[in-house]
Amino acid sequence: MHLQRRNRILRTNASIRSLVAETILTPADFIAPLFIDEGKNVVFEIPSMSGYYRRSLDGTIKEVKELWSMGIKAVLIFIKCDDKLKDNTGKEAWNDNGLMQQSIKAIKDAVPEMIVMTDVALDPYSIYGHDGIVENNKIINDATVDALVKMSISHAKAGADFVAPSDMMDGRIGAIRKGLEENNFTNTGIMSYSAKYASCFYGPFRDALDSAPGFGDKKTYQMDYANRIEAIKETLMDIEEGADIVMIKPAMAYLDIIREIKNSVTVPVSAYHVSGEYAMIKAAAKMGWINEEKAIIESLTSIKRAGADLIATYFAKDAVRLLK
Ligand code: PBG
Repeated sequence: MHLQRRNRILRTNASIRSLVAETILTPADFIAPLFIDEGKNVVFEIPSMSGYYRRSLDGTIKEVKELWSMGIKAVLIFIKCDDKLKDNTGKEAWNDNGLMQQSIKAIKDAVPEMIVMTDVALDPYSIYGHDGIVENNKIINDATVDALVKMSISHAKAGADFVAPSDMMDGRIGAIRKGLEENNFTNTGIMSYSAKYASCFYGPFRDALDSAPGFGDKKTYQMDYANRIEAIKETLMDIEEGADIVMIKPAMAYLDIIREIKNSVTVPVSAYHVSGEYAMIKAAAKMGWINEEKAIIESLTSIKRAGADLIATYFAKDAVRLLK
């Protein structure tokens, strides 16, 4: 054969492959999610997320220092709310001395340069495990938005760098931005979960925080996974309302959406590689059916290739170690 073009030349060996690689992961791509619990010396392995832990604040601070030393620049924090503090208003969410607010302060004190992002949604604080206030078995939009604004201001007051609304209520980004502006939090960013789908892949996360919905599902606020154009609509609206970073969630089953949004917007795009996606790799690896290390790097590279500038992933630490 006399071929004009032999594509395999650029795949001949590892050196040339790395010279022409289009996508390169770095530690600064990752956001490490952290689950925080009350108490001291608490280290609880989440049953459905083997190798991932919920820790009290003392252990969390050690973890944040380690993440920083590895080159990871952002954490996304979630707290497990005591059952006694849960109600239908979610008011513990804007308690200035609550576990979330204490955690923000403690992390910023310990590692001031670490970007602290906070989950904004009522589910961990709700007796119903829903992201909003419930009336007659329905999740009420506007009253929930008022609560989310109070919650965001309280996080900003504690020192959060970014609030990350994950609730999918209508109008919350604009309302939160207005609330931050009116209270002079002009340096607090908003990373909006703008295309968040009603997904079965959040199952393990709800174990981690004991926040599964008590009735029904989240389909009246989170998006239908059948839809693509709607993801663009949601995202463009969030940007117009003031989102600094937008997010697609989950990641692996939504690579088309990540790419579509990356091509449609001029703000940084983030993707959340969620708990169920983590659990699947862990479980298959435990069975000996998949090579865990290779699956981690291939998954994260694919998410970045699809268009994610930032990736929230429970594999952040593993990935940094593997990249070395
Ligand atoms: C809370 C929230 C959820 C996740 C992030 N924030 C759960 C949900 O919406 O039910 C899921 C994260 C994961 O599965 O890793 N609103």
